[in-house]
Amino acid sequence: MIIIQNLTKLFGKFKAVDSINIEINKGEIFGLLGLNGAGKTTTQRMVSTVFLPSKGDIIVNGNDVRTEPAKVRKSIGFLPTEVGLYDRLTANEVVKYFGILNDLDEQEIDERIKKLFEKLALTEYANKRCSKLSRGNKQKVAIARAIIHEPPVFIFDEPTSGLDVLSSRAVLDFTKQCKAEGKTILYSSHLMNEAEEICDRIGIIHNGKILKTGNVKELVKEYGKLENVFISSVRGEKS
Ligand SMILES: Nc1ncnc2c1ncn2[C@@H]1O[C@H](COP(=O)(O)OP(=O)(O)OP(=O)(O)O)[C@@H](O)[C@H]1O
Ligand SMILES: [Mg+2]
Repeated sequence: MIIIQNLTKLFGKFKAVDSINIEINKGEIFGLLGLNGAGKTTTQRMVSTVFLPSKGDIIVNGNDVRTEPAKVRKSIGFLPTEVGLYDRLTANEVVKYFGILNDLDEQEIDERIKKLFEKLALTEYANKRCSKLSRGNKQKVAIARAIIHEPPVFIFDEPTSGLDVLSSRAVLDFTKQCKAEGKTILYSSHLMNEAEEICDRIGIIHNGKILKTGNVKELVKEYGKLENVFISSVRGEKS
């Protein structure tokens, strides 16, 4: 569903992402794990067509990010780290606005919002202005906004970052539910426990390079827990 080949991103002479290769299958949650500055966001931005790769290729749902960026954008729902909502709009209005931008008809949008808000436990906040929402509910609105066009692929950049334990739980459960419905999810995190819980496979990225990829269950069997895999991989490399 997502093929990343020899992907490199240069900012001037600095290699933020360095010749990485990842293949993500349909219906899988792939965790991109790394420390601050490892290259997670840069990779996800290239998959989401925000940045063009300096070198290498990305194919999403059969479309090349260089030649078919509009088709790639239709296939993905990108949740960036920075949640920028329009404070004066209500939760419902923010998501509806994005539905309209995606050429959906209003009745369809209303039906989708109803279902999405129920799944995210947002229904009671639908008519509250975003400025009045808690951080957790803002993040849920951002998720609804990112996927209102029902893409097959989700790109979630540290979606639980800064959330309390209940909001994190809601986001993790929602992500798992989406996978059960057949979505393919590229999920970045630096939290090993959540990656261990929700990811099928992971890639450890460090200084722009992928140090290790593997099936989470197999890695946990071999190393005891994902944290051990991560620490031994990252310690083996000079930062
Ligand atoms: N627009 C940019 N211009 C120059 N350097 C950048 C730019 N964006 C990112 N970088 C650098 O590229 C490297 C990778 O950054 P990136 O944001 O991809 O890391 P990350 O893994 O998402 O980290 P975090 O966990 O802090 O979100 C960092 O050294 C960062 O400073
Ligand atoms: Mg980041």
